[in-house]
Amino acid sequence: MEYIEMEKKYHIQVYKRFPVVFVRGKGTRLWDIDNREYIDFLAGIGVVNAGHCNDKVVEAIKKQAEELIHISNLFYNIPQIELAKKLVDLSELDKAFFCNSGAEANEGAIKFVRKWAYKEKKEGYIISMENAFHGRTLGALSATPKPKFQEGFKPLVEGFKYVKFNDIEALKEVISKAIAVIIEPIQGEGGVHVANREYLRAVRDLCDDYNVKLIFDEVQCGMGRVGEMFAYKHYKVKPDVITLAKALANGVPIGAILVDEDIAKALDYGDHGTTFGGNPLACSAALATIEVIEDIIKDNKVKKKGEYFKNRLKKLNFDFIRDIRGLGLMIGLELEFNGSEIVNEMLNRGFIINCTSDKVLRFLPPLIVEKEEIDLMVDNLKEVLERREK
Ligand SMILES: Cc1ncc(COP(=O)(O)O)c(C=O)c1O
Repeated sequence: MEYIEMEKKYHIQVYKRFPVVFVRGKGTRLWDIDNREYIDFLAGIGVVNAGHCNDKVVEAIKKQAEELIHISNLFYNIPQIELAKKLVDLSELDKAFFCNSGAEANEGAIKFVRKWAYKEKKEGYIISMENAFHGRTLGALSATPKPKFQEGFKPLVEGFKYVKFNDIEALKEVISKAIAVIIEPIQGEGGVHVANREYLRAVRDLCDDYNVKLIFDEVQCGMGRVGEMFAYKHYKVKPDVITLAKALANGVPIGAILVDEDIAKALDYGDHGTTFGGNPLACSAALATIEVIEDIIKDNKVKKKGEYFKNRLKKLNFDFIRDIRGLGLMIGLELEFNGSEIVNEMLNRGFIINCTSDKVLRFLPPLIVEKEEIDLMVDNLKEVLERREK
């Protein structure tokens, strides 16, 4: 196909793409260049939580695009100020900074806790978790201890220590020399591994005991994905820093770092900055997105749908299914074998699902997904798995 050949010629080949060119989306549906319809259970990898081209978000983008798209951070802009207030109110943290992606949010969080430690005259490393994914820029990559991602890009940034996820004893051994801990409450790329509540509580306590800052990377699990605006609300364990991106503006690039007053106070004029971060267009899209998500997650709707989805998957009876896990609409089904063939077959049937960490089928549908769509997808998955069994 013309466009696929063009992409191979002109774009650096770092994405192994499926041979589908999408041209249109609405709600949970996508249409390709041949007008074939798909049901999306990936949402642009956890981005379009409010559904593709959500009316309210589109309206906000259009309105803002006609008024003011960009100025610079040398001046004040109203959507940015309103978004900062909204996120601070929702998160119960104290201040916000805006950037453009998840990696950049984590990169900023790393810098911010380092500056805080510097002012505290505290030295030490940042602890991250085995199997974590925090992004591809060098700081974020250094917190992402997967050889597959790090190989070929050394030297990495110094000052990181890795420990086993969900293992408080492992953290106890190294926390005394740390300045911060960065953790995904639910590891996404690592295979949808859910932190235990007791574990996260114990992490919080350890951080308090040793004056160590706790960063929750909610780039994937935040913004309503698990049925709460922030995953930390589910755990009732409040971090000192939250990083956000992906679904924050339902597809318009934006990232955010939310911090406590302590960290905010450690930062001086000129310590950090970005040209695009928090521009009026992205912030208006985010404000509209948050309003839509607040409505979607009301009355535990997302949590209930997530439970329904997980239960439907649990009824699949195949010896090669190792585990089904997740929280809200962030769900993983672990197979004994590489899941890419299953993903391909589902795509042929008009369903977009994903496989991460080789063997984990990952489902991150728009949060507006209907039970009937879940049923349809699971029925098709069952047939695909039955064929594989034979
Ligand atoms: C938990 C988490 N953190 C950070 C990132 C990096 O975000 P981005 O791709 O926007 O840089 C991702 C992306 O998948 C993620 O899942």
